[in-house]
Amino acid sequence: MDSLLKQHLIDPEICIRCYTCEETCPIDAITHNDDNVVVDADKCNYCMDCIAPCPTGSIDNWRLVTKSYSIEQQFEWQELPDQEDLGDADSGALNEALDKEISDLLEHAHSGTGGKPIAPESAAQPSINLYSTSKPAIATVQGNYRLTDEDAPTDVRHLILNFGETVFPILEGQSIGVVPPTNNTSGANPIRLYSVSSPRDGEKQNANNIALTVKREEHGACSNYLCNLTKGDLVEVSGPFGGTFLMPNDPNSNIIMICTGTGSAPFRAFTERRRRAAPGAPGKLMLFFGARTPAELPYFGPLNKLSSDLLEKHLVFSRLENEPKEYVQDRMTAHAEAICTLLKNEKTHMYICGLKGMEQGVEDALEEACFHHSLTWSDVKQNMRSSGRYHVETY
Ligand code: A2P
Repeated sequence: MDSLLKQHLIDPEICIRCYTCEETCPIDAITHNDDNVVVDADKCNYCMDCIAPCPTGSIDNWRLVTKSYSIEQQFEWQELPDQEDLGDADSGALNEALDKEISDLLEHAHSGTGGKPIAPESAAQPSINLYSTSKPAIATVQGNYRLTDEDAPTDVRHLILNFGETVFPILEGQSIGVVPPTNNTSGANPIRLYSVSSPRDGEKQNANNIALTVKREEHGACSNYLCNLTKGDLVEVSGPFGGTFLMPNDPNSNIIMICTGTGSAPFRAFTERRRRAAPGAPGKLMLFFGARTPAELPYFGPLNKLSSDLLEKHLVFSRLENEPKEYVQDRMTAHAEAICTLLKNEKTHMYICGLKGMEQGVEDALEEACFHHSLTWSDVKQNMRSSGRYHVETY
């Protein structure tokens, strides 16, 4: 029979099109079109550099093939093909040998992050990739409100998009993709992902709309496009994306949420979901939210109105006049005992979303907190990660 190849593939149903793998690949073996991100079998040398940075685990897929799938074939896929039946005893042995080789490499690649992300056990089944940039859903802008004070240096917007008759199911923690229209001939603008800040039943209950929390970035083609939209404008939306950073459905789940700036978007969705679906739930919600000042903290007013029975809030500010700078990790250290009590509970989930820079600080705070409360953070994290209870989305 023909020689066999273990082909590296990306699962289009899980991939969130963040292109981190493409940016990481040292030999440019990964590419994308409007629909999919794919690996060129003629180039891939199994270095595994792309595996650990992938936030979803969609990168970690393999098929034993007699003839490799071309990138053009992969561009067409809505889902991965099944393993073809090779019908030859030799393939078993070769598969095993290659599996071992790949799993050794993967073990190495995952050692930094502790394995690929897994969705919480009680999360609902997400719909993924129903719409692509070439076949988008069309949403109508219902509102665009500035969340930060008019005179604050950051412009963060609450944008409401209505899908009308179009089915666009979304779960708390999922993202959508937006491509701003091009206004020149120099090629297509890249897709940008935005985490949805409304719960699954809509910004307004059962109104088939969603909310986004968008910060205007200097020179940001997509953020400026979104922040400038007005009521009645039409937007092309792809997605939904994301199959692991999801809210647990179990009302007994404790959820520790740590964020900065617009990283708060999924946590607004989580909190609103709990408020609507299980307001008296036994599970605790705890939020550590960092911003420069109250004027620059999205949803400062509405957040403050939420009862502390629903949400334990820690709004933390780094640039208050006459106050020392405080980061989320500082406040976590101050509440180490409460956090560790939750970490000892198998029903506790942790989500981190926002600035990449915060990740190390939060890690250090958790390590120290655990050390003082008879826990080992690396073990706790590994256990939480492998049971779908630890999730990070930073940028
Ligand atoms: P600061 O920029 O004052 O140092 P931004 O407004 O840029 O989105 O940032 C949100 C918040 O995150 C700000 O309060 C910012 O503080 C803070 N921040 C910046 N770097 C870190 C970090 N390494 N760890 C935690 N918070 C951070």
